[in-house]
Amino acid sequence: MWSSFFRKKSIDKIISDQLEIESIEGNSMDRNLGVRDLTFMGVAAIIGASIFSAIGQASANGGPAVSMLFVFTAMACMFTAFCYARFAATVPISGSAYTYAYTSLGEIVAWILGWNLLLEYAISNVAVAISWSKYFVDLLEGLGVHVPEFMTMDYLSAKRAFTETSSALASGEKFEALSVNLREGFTAYQSAPTIFGWHFVANIPALLITVAITYLVYIGIKESKNTNNILVILKLLVIMIVVGVGAFYVQVENWTPFAPNGISGVLKSVAAVCFAYIGFDSISTTAEECKNPQRDIPKAMMYALIICTVLYVLVTLVLTGIVPSENLAGIEDPLAFMFMQVGLPGVAGIVAASAVIALTSALLVYQLGQPRIWMTMSRDGLLPKAFSRIHPKYRTPSFSTIMTGVLVGVPALFANLEEVINLSSIGTLFAFVLVCGGVLVLDLDPENQKKSKFKIPYVNSSYYVGLSLILALGMISYSGVNLGEWLEGLYSGETKADHFIMFGFFIIWSVMAFFSVTKKLSLIPVLGLLVNLYLMTQMGSTNWERFMYWCLAGVVIYFGYSYRKSKLNV
Ligand code: ALA
Repeated sequence: MWSSFFRKKSIDKIISDQLEIESIEGNSMDRNLGVRDLTFMGVAAIIGASIFSAIGQASANGGPAVSMLFVFTAMACMFTAFCYARFAATVPISGSAYTYAYTSLGEIVAWILGWNLLLEYAISNVAVAISWSKYFVDLLEGLGVHVPEFMTMDYLSAKRAFTETSSALASGEKFEALSVNLREGFTAYQSAPTIFGWHFVANIPALLITVAITYLVYIGIKESKNTNNILVILKLLVIMIVVGVGAFYVQVENWTPFAPNGISGVLKSVAAVCFAYIGFDSISTTAEECKNPQRDIPKAMMYALIICTVLYVLVTLVLTGIVPSENLAGIEDPLAFMFMQVGLPGVAGIVAASAVIALTSALLVYQLGQPRIWMTMSRDGLLPKAFSRIHPKYRTPSFSTIMTGVLVGVPALFANLEEVINLSSIGTLFAFVLVCGGVLVLDLDPENQKKSKFKIPYVNSSYYVGLSLILALGMISYSGVNLGEWLEGLYSGETKADHFIMFGFFIIWSVMAFFSVTKKLSLIPVLGLLVNLYLMTQMGSTNWERFMYWCLAGVVIYFGYSYRKSKLNV
């Protein structure tokens, strides 16, 4: 019984199934993506809500040093990208990490991973749609069109703003002196129509853009690809303008102190920074539509990551060089805001318009990726057959595409941006951890290594992992942390959950140190696993709790449906 949860799909079986599916008329997809299209898709997915919106609060938390967090996180993504490339070269099928886990870690892990990819693709798109809506409404305002506030945000933000503003007003503060966010939220809540006493506040533009993008994806990859390439070129141009023009207004004294709130301040921005990189892996979901997946997917991932890291670092430095970081708290349109601060409303307008374009292209990639994952899961029997139905005319996974539209559009009406980003980031990092772990398991069998056309550069991790653990513990105790007291914190105190999470991380690090010596594991996947896991530990206990509930729901569905219906159950 136990072993059946971990039943695996063999790589040969996956490839032969694929050939069979493609041979049935009407089931194959067009192979028309090359390395340039894939890199563009990567950039389209990576650059989005984070650099246009979340970077404001992230910089307020950590100051200019957030740029270094971008570099650190990019390294984790690069290690992970090697692992994705390794898998994509071995299993060139559209399921992404889900399929990879199915071949290496077994069915239940694959299911949980597929379930978490929902957080990465669909739920992250909720955040992008919300962010799109914010910039779109700004743009309309700039053109003199006012959209009532209650149609432009989520209920929770409006309710919070209403409560906070009401108490500020009660204590004698002036409405005009409050922040823009508070004023808008207050107005939204107060002016909203009420239904049985409930204030109807919902993000209508976020729903509408989701519907429009879903339609574009529904009618076919070719149209989407061409639209996407144009959108990305525009996006890159505008970011270059932001950096190029902004650089003249940087005041270097704003970079001191580099980390005004210390390391802990920088680490508060982990979710936003990780969210900024979400999407590089989406390239691998298009393996069935690539001309040469083994060669092009690894290349495109690396190119996309390098381009985006350079841009993120530059944007963060320019932003925090123009606006003192403490003034960026709560600012959701920081790139336009910074140009307003230096008296360039024209440039601010161009940036606002470009954000709308940038976020549109990000939306497109996720709406493309999610249905393809479902399609693969459905072909394996883990989801109902409808999820793998291909449209006879448009050759796209039609039902899955519509479902994705519903799953993104409806929460986009009501969800809160920060909470969505937090949940999406933790789920994605977990998927990355499993992919890195999957490569380690896969490579235990030398036969699998021979089969792959892409090899991760091998460095024997034997002693590095253990030595780095000892070094880390040494540094922690040198920095004044009392180990005994810290361990006591596992049982009592407010930070019990945080200690527990960190303790788990050190246990896993120790286990990896052991296997690195005994199995001579490859260093890059080990680093990918540990660094992604470390980033997860910084996400806060509330977020962990939600993530656990999410995984639990996934397990319930697995046992309720997928386990019995799996094709491997025969
Ligand atoms: N990386 C994407 C963004 O920042 C999800 O919006």
